Amino acid sequence: MKILGILASHQEHGINAKLLDAVLNNVDSGVETETIFLEDYDITPHKYHEKNEVLDNLSGKLAESDVWVFAAPTYWRELSGVLKNFFDCMRPKFVYFKENGDTIPGQFKDKHYLSITSCYVSTLENFVTGVTDDSLKTIDRVMSAAGVIKTGEIVLPGTFGMKEIPESKLKLCAKYGHKISQRKRKDDSTLKRYIQLFFMIAVMALITMGIQLPLKQFMPANFWTDYISFTIIFFVLLGSILHFVTFVKHRRR
Ligand SMILES: Cc1cc2nc3c(=O)[nH]c(=O)nc-3n(C[C@H](O)[C@H](O)[C@H](O)COP(=O)(O)O)c2cc1C
Repeated sequence: MKILGILASHQEHGINAKLLDAVLNNVDSGVETETIFLEDYDITPHKYHEKNEVLDNLSGKLAESDVWVFAAPTYWRELSGVLKNFFDCMRPKFVYFKENGDTIPGQFKDKHYLSITSCYVSTLENFVTGVTDDSLKTIDRVMSAAGVIKTGEIVLPGTFGMKEIPESKLKLCAKYGHKISQRKRKDDSTLKRYIQLFFMIAVMALITMGIQLPLKQFMPANFWTDYISFTIIFFVLLGSILHFVTFVKHRRR
């Protein structure tokens, strides 16, 4: 079992490097770790006929690892350019292209990843405005196309002038260090997802019936109006919550 830390900050010994170290120093015994600092590599896109030794080397490191930990600060409210450039250049290795131009997960399908990011703005501001959201979203988008499975997110806001990582964050990093050391089955969240789905449906059905009650005064009382109004309200609520959980919700503190 091997875990690869991918540091994509301008600072080799900055906040993200410390968070990444805190994760990798807490992996279970017997788990091998390696960290690469992306700034050390001259990462350029694949030219059609030419061999790209840097990308081949990095791709080899990705292939021999079971879990990737991306540590990338938020720059201009987005993913650091270093990691974005890495993702852009690695695209032909992350996905296969179908004849119609669609992509399907490539050689790294079913590996796992953990995302780490940080920003200057305070915890409160990040909680309200989601400054770090886009960094995490971009990582998720690329990994989802590559078929790589998410294990979690670590976010550290309020880094202006910060010298030491807060104790609570070190504990979270240690927790993830242990979590990503466990050898995963292909998709280990199936049972959890079914349980979440059950409770989601139970709550949505309750809310839908609650909304239907006052509406009944204005609608003819019969089976079909009940059925149609239930379906429409349920669909809107479930669609919104699924959108929130899948695309919007990211850790912000
Ligand atoms: C080019 C650049 C752009 C940044 N943009 C933002 C920003 O939009 N919002 C923010 O809160 N912090 C911003 N920051 C601050 C970094 O996110 C913050 O310093 C981060 O913790 C640095 O991590 P590091 O020590 O690993 O480099 C920016 C920093 C740099 C260098």
